[in-house]
Amino acid sequence: MKRDLVSILDMEKDIEDVISLALRLKRDRYSKRSELDGRTVGMIFEKPSTRTRISLETAITQLGGHGIYLNPNDMQMGRGETVEDTAHVLSGFLDAITYRAFSHENVLKLAKNSSIPVINALDDVEHPLQVLADYMTIAEKKGRTSNLKFSYVGDGNNMVNSLVLGCALLGMDMSVGTPEQYKPNEKFIAKAREIAKSTGAKITTTTNPKEAVADADVVYTDVWISMGEEKQKEIKEKAFKPFQVNADLVSEAKKDYIFMHCLPAHRGLEVTDEVADSINSVIFQEAENRLHSAKAAFITLLS
Ligand code: CP
Ligand code: NVA
Repeated sequence: MKRDLVSILDMEKDIEDVISLALRLKRDRYSKRSELDGRTVGMIFEKPSTRTRISLETAITQLGGHGIYLNPNDMQMGRGETVEDTAHVLSGFLDAITYRAFSHENVLKLAKNSSIPVINALDDVEHPLQVLADYMTIAEKKGRTSNLKFSYVGDGNNMVNSLVLGCALLGMDMSVGTPEQYKPNEKFIAKAREIAKSTGAKITTTTNPKEAVADADVVYTDVWISMGEEKQKEIKEKAFKPFQVNADLVSEAKKDYIFMHCLPAHRGLEVTDEVADSINSVIFQEAENRLHSAKAAFITLLS
């Protein structure tokens, strides 16, 4: 049976094992590996990417496989060939597909119609690969992934959806602070709370950024304007001003809090340089961990 990673919930049973494997792979980063020997992974990107594209391609290479970057505009998909037909065709050539898409529906369609694993490389609803790197970074910095308070301040977007499910799975308390009109998706909050009943995580939402960050071990933010939302720039920037992660806001967190951001950051908007470049900031370690956690994801899904 093939195994997809469309939602972080697809790792419900082994998220902790995947994080441990990623930590081992990082320690062992210079050993030659062959888990993807002779295998080819297609990487479809409908949107730009620095971290995801480069970490995935490097991960595939370091595991002995071959990655092919696929721009939909250079494929027949860009001229209207259906996602379903593309899935059947690519399944005949490749061993896995990673897909960065505008629409979550299309990621689901690709997964449903492919006989090979499909990995969500970010869509409008989730970003599972990113959160694996995030929890790996928390494990490194805090020595654990439960009994912590994770605070997210900003837009109730794709990052929040994956983070809230991930925190619930791991038993990490999560407090989400957003403006009233940009609250996280209720469906994801409800699902997270259901999971949290068995893991002990406490999931709360608020429209008060200081309340969200109070006593936090982790302070996380993301861009206010996600890819594809450029038209909403002006209106969103206004609404999010009080949610900027700056020195005043993080003074509410624990002294040894860590600052995280999936990046790219819009410095001076969702976060100030003062916080992003502070001693508490782990943003570049977090970015590097995209490589190690991607390798762990490939090994888990493909071998
Ligand atoms: N965090 C992240 O996914 O970055 P990219 O858009 O550069 O891939
Ligand atoms: N929410 C952002 C994440 C970028 C990695 C976006 O979707 O653009």
